[in-house]
Amino acid sequence: MCLLISAVLIFNVNCNGPEKNRTIENKPLETSSISSDIVDGIHVRTGLKEGEGLMMVIGHCTACHSAQLITQNRMNKEQWNATIRWMQETQNLWDLGENQEVIVNYLVTNYPVIDTGRRENLPTTEWYRLEDQ
Ligand code: HEC
Repeated sequence: MCLLISAVLIFNVNCNGPEKNRTIENKPLETSSISSDIVDGIHVRTGLKEGEGLMMVIGHCTACHSAQLITQNRMNKEQWNATIRWMQETQNLWDLGENQEVIVNYLVTNYPVIDTGRRENLPTTEWYRLEDQ
């Protein structure tokens, strides 16, 4: 009996959960009601960096998911554009129109690729033997 009830519960959760809890609307957030408080260059509500286009990014890019997906990522212009295209093709992201340029500029300015390549050799010209130290 218990098994049957839990089976029904699991079934219910799986089948109806996402639909019932679905609150995402397919449009940008209304940013006028979102606090624009900035502390130490960071927008308090979202954790995004202060910069030109911030509120536009908040409106368009935090409607479906946390801003952490942005702050954890670092990409160049092509990669940010490709990510946006991917969300448009697969995740119902709307057409950003002229806003896309402002948004992508914000993203590449504040979340660019970090060069993790090997650093340049130090310009050492004097060499010494370790044993001599
Ligand atoms: C219509 C909903 C929606 C909107 C609006 C949206 N996204 Fe997404 N985005 C998604 C979904 C869904 C995922 C996949 C989430 C996951 O994997 O958990 C995602 C994933 C991402 C990722 C991670 C991609 C990866 O390869 O892991 C980034 C970065 C991202 N979004 C950035 C943005 C930016 C920037 C904007 C604003 C232009 C934006 N999102 C707006 C739905 C949206």
